[in-house]
Order: sequence, then structure tokens, then C-alpha cells
Amino acid sequence: MAVQTLTNKSHYQITRQLCWAFFLISTISCTANNSTNTPSPTLKDAFRGQFLIGIAVNERQFTEADPKAVQLITNNFNSISPENVLKWQSVHPSPETYTFDMADKFVEFGLKHNMVIIGHTLVWHHQTPLWVFQNEKGEKVDRETLIARMRDHIHTVVGRYKGKIKGWDVVNEALNENGQLRRSRWLEIIGPDYIKLAFKFAHEADPDVELYYNDYSIENEPKRRGAIEIVKSLKAEGIRIDAVGMQGHYLMNWPTLQQIENTINDFKKLGVKVMITELDIDVLPRVEGHLGGGDIRTIRITDPQRWHELDPYPDGLPEEKQDALAQRYAELFKVFLKHHDTISRVTFWGLTDGESWLNYNPVPGRHNHPLLFDRQYKPKKAYYAIIRAAQEFESSQKNKDK
Ligand code: GLA
Repeated sequence: MAVQTLTNKSHYQITRQLCWAFFLISTISCTANNSTNTPSPTLKDAFRGQFLIGIAVNERQFTEADPKAVQLITNNFNSISPENVLKWQSVHPSPETYTFDMADKFVEFGLKHNMVIIGHTLVWHHQTPLWVFQNEKGEKVDRETLIARMRDHIHTVVGRYKGKIKGWDVVNEALNENGQLRRSRWLEIIGPDYIKLAFKFAHEADPDVELYYNDYSIENEPKRRGAIEIVKSLKAEGIRIDAVGMQGHYLMNWPTLQQIENTINDFKKLGVKVMITELDIDVLPRVEGHLGGGDIRTIRITDPQRWHELDPYPDGLPEEKQDALAQRYAELFKVFLKHHDTISRVTFWGLTDGESWLNYNPVPGRHNHPLLFDRQYKPKKAYYAIIRAAQEFESSQKNKDK
């Protein structure tokens, strides 16, 4: 009898354990299935409490024409930026026409999925139609006309999304590499105070919206000095500026982690937040004549041998390069995590490698691999590496608190 009871009991225990194991396996595989094989925790969960994890989205994604992408985006990211649809040429293509169809859909997508919505961008030298700077005869407009156009544009666009968009890249890329103001049409026609005016108009249009200055390569000291001057001069006049966006179009060996830390610290001292706004890592060989960062010039290559050298991974990134990319991403995120009190958001410039602008810039037609998801929408080693960095950071914080 006693033996019988024992046997029954152990049988019961084994059955229970088996059931439990079965439950765990089915739960894990369910989680994986539900999230297109994204493991748990997802990016936004891993970084919760540190900073927002954002993504620049394109039309196929925010109109939900690409359901696989939508699933990855909503699982992993809690902030969105528009890749193109809020740029001047998209929303205000001619003097009397504002076209908000796509921009509205972008904002609806963010609201529907409870994401922090970022506006990009109001005043820039690029992707801004020529009519903005010219009269009907094609002559350069005067300062007052351009200021009035800028004011109308900013009031209309910022005003439309008042209370929905959390913050705007008000001015994009106003600086040269040497830290002086870029000789854009904005500077030529209005003068250096065009930056202050843009921030002032944005604040008038939505007094609650956050305002950012956004640029690339400000990790390099001369250019950073220019960005510091911009922040200081806005603050000196009591004009709102909440954060500086470091675009984060990085290379495997530039910038150094030290340059990044110095940049974060310099802006922290000025009392503004820092955002990494357009993160990607170019893994292809450099092309002579290209400045890197957000330099948008196109270089065409006709020599087949040179092409082969410049496009070495058309069939996928080799394992050792995946490892190196994962390590580079992990190192960057360790720095971002260390400065989580200053960094409020890290946004990737695109979801999958296949859609990255780096396949077209500076050399159109190459196969770059700069992001966290490959051309088949599969998370790369870099994806897991930054989640691990977040987990390690969290447990080191807990140990500190003990
Ligand atoms: C710059 C701009 C972005 C985008 C990228 C490249 O960094 O700020 O809007 O155009 O270049 O795609």
C-alpha cells in the first residue's frame, strides 16, 4: 500500500512536471510566433526606464501595407519619426498647397499604437522646394518674405499636430564641419537669426511641444563647438530648446566612444537633453570624396573591379562582420545607458537593412547592412547584443542598490 502510494505520488509529480514543461515550451513558442520570431524581451521592454527606443518609418509601414514590418515595429519601438513625409517638400510642395494625407496617416499610426511621435523636420537646406526662396520670376526673395513663409509653414504644420507630436527637429543640419553656419539659402537670405526665428515660431505654434536642434558629425569637436553656440545663443535669449539630436549615422570606427561621451557631457552641461535621432552603422568601405554622416551627395562607380571592392557583401554580411557589428552596437549602447539621465531617446533610421538609405547613398545600388533586422526581417546578432547590454546594465544597477 505504502509502495503503491509512493508510486502514485511520483507518477503524479512526473506528470505535473511534464505538464509544466509542456506549458513553458508552448508559451515560449507562442511568444516567438506572435512576434515574428522576436525573442522576449523586445527592445522597448529591455530599455524601459532608460530611454525611448524609436524608429524612422516609411509609408508602407505606417499605412500598414507591410504587416510583418508593422508587427516588428509595434513590438520593439515606442517612438516613431517620419522618414520623409513631414519634410517641407512633402507637406508644402507649392506656395498655396499643403498636402497632409501621408503625414496624417503617419501621426494616426503613432496614436493608434501609443507611440511617442516625433516631427522631422521644419527648416533644412535639403528636401525644401526652390519656390520657398524665389518669387514668380525666379528671383531670390527678400528677408521679410522668407521669414513670412517660414512662419506660415511652421505655424501651419506644427499647429496641425498640436498635442499629438511630442517634439520637433526644428532646424536640421545648420552647420559646416568647421562649426560655422552652413551657407544655406536660409542663412543667405535671412541671416544667422533664422535659427532663432524658427524656434520662436515653433514655440508660438505649440507652446507645449519640445524643440530640438538636429545635426550629424557633432561628435567632431569643431562642429560640436558650433552646435554648442546655437544652444547657448537660444538660451541666452530665453528661446525654448529642449534637446540636441545627434543623428548617429556612424561608421565601424567613427566616432570613438570617447567622442560620443564628450559630446553628451558637453550638452548636458548646457542643460539640454540629448537624443540619438538617426542611428545606423555603415559597414561598407568608404568612398573617396564623401564626407560621411548625413552628407547626401551621390557618387557613381563604373569600374567593375572598384564596384566589387565597394560592394563586398551583396549576399549577406559574413559571420565575423556580424559579430563586429554586434560588438560595435553593444559598445554604443553601453555608453548611451551610462548616460541614460541625459539621453531621452535613441531612434534607428530604418527597420531592415534592405530599406536603408545607405544602400543608395553615397553609391546607389550597394548592399549595406547597417540596422538591427536583415533583409528577411530577421533580428541580427546586433539586436540581441543591445538587449543583452540593457539587461547587464539593469542587473549592475540592482547590485549597486543592494
Ligand atoms: C539626414 C536627414 C534625414 C535623412 C537622412 C538620410 O540625416 O536628417 O531626414 O534624410 O539624412 O536618409
